Amino acid sequence: MADQLPEIFWEIHSGLPREGPGDNGSTRRAFLTLKDLPKKPNMLDIGCGPGMQTVELVRLSNGQIDALDNYQPFLDQLDISVKKGGFTDKIKLVNGDMFNLIYDNSAFNLIWSEGAIFIISFEKGLREWKRLLTDKGYLVVSELSWLKNNVPSKVKEYMEHVYPANKTIKENLNIVKKVGYRVIGSFILPTESWWTNYYQPIEAKLPSLKEKYKNNAEKLQHIAYHEVEIDMFRKYSDYYGYVFYIMQNKLEN
Ligand SMILES: C[S@@+](CC[C@H](N)C(=O)[O-])C[C@H]1O[C@@H](n2cnc3c(N)ncnc32)[C@H](O)[C@@H]1O
Repeated sequence: MADQLPEIFWEIHSGLPREGPGDNGSTRRAFLTLKDLPKKPNMLDIGCGPGMQTVELVRLSNGQIDALDNYQPFLDQLDISVKKGGFTDKIKLVNGDMFNLIYDNSAFNLIWSEGAIFIISFEKGLREWKRLLTDKGYLVVSELSWLKNNVPSKVKEYMEHVYPANKTIKENLNIVKKVGYRVIGSFILPTESWWTNYYQPIEAKLPSLKEKYKNNAEKLQHIAYHEVEIDMFRKYSDYYGYVFYIMQNKLEN
């Protein structure tokens, strides 16, 4: 993904607290539903970005975590938090590809991925990452989902353009079961977790970028895509949102 996105995307997305909707309260809420973790779980955070949730997971558990992303500047940003928090013996930074995870079978008690499984696709991620979990290991992901059925046509058209794979919570939970996991739970992230750590910091950067690139139509167009995205969410957040899906591995029969 990193090499397909234009430079302006990375300029907009540099130095943000998070690279997608999320907040520590929601990470904690999801983590606290996991009842059968060992005292020192071995964990993997896929598409960790700047790693707000990685640090929170280490605070919540007594375990070790591999923080994996394929965009080095995000790992560098996380490295600063790791050093500041004194977590160098708990968090290992891994520049790796979620499509090609080089780990042994059953390597992890917990795999976490906030706002990143869409890159490989929800079902494919669930299928491919399953082998990495211990029996009864947990997979926790957040994924964009439809929250209502009667979606206005304007929102449907927009989503068809930006994320045609978007599904309802029920459809995603059916995929979880079909792939062979036990559903532990699911919940919708609060709208503030879109604003506080993600959209507000992006919005704060846009005016100066618009000024900087006022003569560059292509860059202005990318800035405008972000404005449209934010505006759609401001108007239509009742209809779509991020949802945590919490599941437990089951051995195949
Ligand atoms: C929407 S961001 C979410 C980041 C972080 N989990 C968060 O919630 O702030 C998706 C992340 O996936 C990473 N990514 C994209 N393609 C990837 C790949 N093939 N392998 C690993 N990470 C990837 C991006 O660099 C980015 O950090």
